[in-house]
Amino acid sequence: MKNILITGGAGFIGSHLVRLMVNKYPDYNIINLDLLTYAGNLANLKDIEKRPNYTFVKGDICDLELMQALFAKYQIDGVIHLAAESHVDRSIKDPFAFARANVMGTLSLLQAARLYWSEGEKGKAGFAGKLFYHVSTDEVYGSLENDGTFFTEDTKYDPHSPYSASKASSDHFVRAYHDTYGMPVKISNCSNNYGSFQFPEKLIPLFINNIRHNKPLPVYGKGENVRDWLYVEDHASAIDLIFHKGKTGDTYNIGGFNEWKNIDLIKVLIKTVDKQLGRPEGTSVKLITYVTDRAGHDLRYAIDSGKLHRELGWEPSLQFEEGIEKTVRWYLENQEWLDNVTSGDYQKYYDAMYKG
Ligand code: NAD
Ligand code: DAU
Repeated sequence: MKNILITGGAGFIGSHLVRLMVNKYPDYNIINLDLLTYAGNLANLKDIEKRPNYTFVKGDICDLELMQALFAKYQIDGVIHLAAESHVDRSIKDPFAFARANVMGTLSLLQAARLYWSEGEKGKAGFAGKLFYHVSTDEVYGSLENDGTFFTEDTKYDPHSPYSASKASSDHFVRAYHDTYGMPVKISNCSNNYGSFQFPEKLIPLFINNIRHNKPLPVYGKGENVRDWLYVEDHASAIDLIFHKGKTGDTYNIGGFNEWKNIDLIKVLIKTVDKQLGRPEGTSVKLITYVTDRAGHDLRYAIDSGKLHRELGWEPSLQFEEGIEKTVRWYLENQEWLDNVTSGDYQKYYDAMYKG
């Protein structure tokens, strides 16, 4: 029996990972720790919430005492850490919130793991058989030109936004705990994810929802920035593989070799939503609205995930076209979920972002 703490398990990627782990490993106890910020939603986990190998705990990763109590109560063997503030635009408005959650939160989790695993109470096995897996982003590597190059695991860190700076800092703390205290750690850096249960502030769910409701589609700058898109369940399967088979102390890049210029991706979204709603092709092109560019907007991200393919045999399960069809269908069929997560402060946020 293994006791695995997954942080941020009520969010977008975390909920897919929790579902995968609960279903695939009935012998593990999966403890999902989440603060349920605006981005966390227990409705994302309705299908597995009553499973005997699943426990939800509401709490803040920054609360060191709570983290220590949690490690002791559930006798945690492994951590998969996803909890974070994750939206670049919010980080531009409130960088401190990102330093708090992403840097101090990761540090308090590392410290609780170290104290529980390596010191103190009698009979501790130390770090043997333990693992702290940190889920990070390709944004720590900075921005590429349109020159066909890729981020590899050896690319120098060069974050530009408060979000990516906070994630880069958290990665450094994880490596510092490995190098200084001998904590067994792994880190993965993934490209842009898409799929169900993503909060509609990120490009794909925001635009699907807006196309459906005939609302403007705010394209930053000229829409020429490039992102490398991966289906969220393929990210979860990569995390599972790295957690179990990856080399301790190593970093793995995860990506889809699937680059899209924003404006081209937006046209695919328009075509797919219009088709699924039975509207004539091109109906929603008129919604495209070019707006002021994001400050410090990284031009291009592209991940070389060759190491993960070569060393661990990981392969994504879906082609992009199929993934987008599936994703659009999910949001169109789950308007209730969208209505639920966009109640409360969402409209205030949206107005400040796009009309303020
Ligand atoms: P998300 O914003 O959808 O979910 C984050 C979750 O963390 C939410 O459930 C939230 O309630 C929880 N949380 C936030 N602060 C917390 C705190 N202080 N204590 C406890 N819980 C807290 O994010 P996501 O898109 O699912 O991203 C998950 C992780 O993966 C993040 O670490 C992010 O940096 C990383 N990542 C995301 C992407 C992407 O494309 N979305 C790509 C690569 C890496
Ligand atoms: O690369 C991984 C990262 O991908 C993750 O670490 C982040 O958590 C995740 O949010 C994502 O960051 P991006 O900033 O790339 O994602 P976002 O969906 O916010 O934006 C995608 C692109 O679309 C980006 O170039 C900005 C642009 N955009 C976004 C929004 C929300 C628009 O043009 N208009 C918009 O309204």
